[in-house]
Amino acid sequence: MSGFELRNGQWWCDQIAVDALADEYGTPLYVYSRARIEENYRRLQYAFKALTPRIHFSVKSNSNGAILRVLRELGSGFDVVSAGEAYRVLRAGAVPASIVFAGVGKTESELAFALEHHLGWINVESVQELEVLNRLANERNAKPQVALRINPQIEADTHHHMNTGGHRSKFGLDVDDARSVLLQAGQYLNLDIAGLHVHIGSQLANTVETVAALQRVLELATLHPIRNLDIGGGFPVPYRPDDELPDPSVFAEAVQQVLQTHPSTPLRSAHAVSPPEAGRRTGWDARFEIAIEPGRSIVADAGVLVATVQYIKVRASRRIVVCDASMAELIRPALYDAYHHIVPVKDTKPSTLVADIVGPVCETGDTLGADRELAEVARGDRLLIMNAGAYGMSMASNYNSRPRPAEVLVEGRYHHQIRRRETWADLVRLEE
Ligand SMILES: Cc1ncc(COP(=O)(O)O)c(C=O)c1O
Repeated sequence: MSGFELRNGQWWCDQIAVDALADEYGTPLYVYSRARIEENYRRLQYAFKALTPRIHFSVKSNSNGAILRVLRELGSGFDVVSAGEAYRVLRAGAVPASIVFAGVGKTESELAFALEHHLGWINVESVQELEVLNRLANERNAKPQVALRINPQIEADTHHHMNTGGHRSKFGLDVDDARSVLLQAGQYLNLDIAGLHVHIGSQLANTVETVAALQRVLELATLHPIRNLDIGGGFPVPYRPDDELPDPSVFAEAVQQVLQTHPSTPLRSAHAVSPPEAGRRTGWDARFEIAIEPGRSIVADAGVLVATVQYIKVRASRRIVVCDASMAELIRPALYDAYHHIVPVKDTKPSTLVADIVGPVCETGDTLGADRELAEVARGDRLLIMNAGAYGMSMASNYNSRPRPAEVLVEGRYHHQIRRRETWADLVRLEE
């Protein structure tokens, strides 16, 4: 077991007590376990082993350069949604061909960046974007690999802010538009349209909609030669101790089942091919490559946010525990009503309080956990906000002019600061 564990009454990150890190770096503080990131990556690889997909880590979930380097060393590719993310990934040493550039509103300068840096795939989300990209590629005498992101008009079972495949969603091309593009793909002389992409949302509660979306996309795969099918990310993470959610292997099996049985799939089960051919791969003779783009399932439980209790007051028979972390450092509770389990870093007493754990930001929405059963805590005690490794620091802001926190990566018995805490001078650095 790697990652965060309660041992002898206090929380550890692998072989380092979290309290010792908070003493050294102060709070609020993000702490990550390298071993847990590696374990999660390998678990996904194993779950999907029959499909041998390319894994493109979704950089939006955590974009710290040190974490990107860990993933690059594991052999991961990268899914980026801005030229800024692509810049970070290239700086972390990624091979350009391992980068997929997605996003609904790429600007011309971002598309030019993708062409000039020879990124592996550009996932296009509208007919106008295709035209712009074709022109920019022509001007540069380039012919990038392009995947069409399909909006399958299927609502995923998740928070509405994390639903990206529904009929009102801004993402992707409608199936009919994608069909016309594929039938006229030859018109885009400077685009090698050879991929299909679908991502219906994040923290998916089940595989039903994933299967339905994939079926819809596969119908398009017969219209034009396709080399790559990117089935997105979204594999869920249990945030509550009692959450029961499908493991990545359940998604892998469901996807495999669709690929095996869909009438228009160009994939064949190994059982259907001759023995020498079947021997080349485990389980599949794939005519196109599969790609997945997980974020949360790799980094969420590999990171925590550590906070210090500032004040405690009693209101309407409940405690209000004011700590030094806020929605500026972790916006998920305010943005998605997300639950993050919160425990004292020194966790020896039974949970007897009902408390709201709040931050210092001047917003009522700045509540990290409401109605929580918490052990008796006092001013100065530290709290661990669990599963904060994904969409935590990458969504952090300077709201209320709060310097963003430091980040530390634990590697067994060692740790490194991978981003220093911002200073007040950093807050005004870019102002005239
Ligand atoms: C296009 C795309 N791919 C991949 C992801 C990663 O999702 P997750 O972190 O849930 O795996 C997202 C996030 O919403 C996304 O928008």
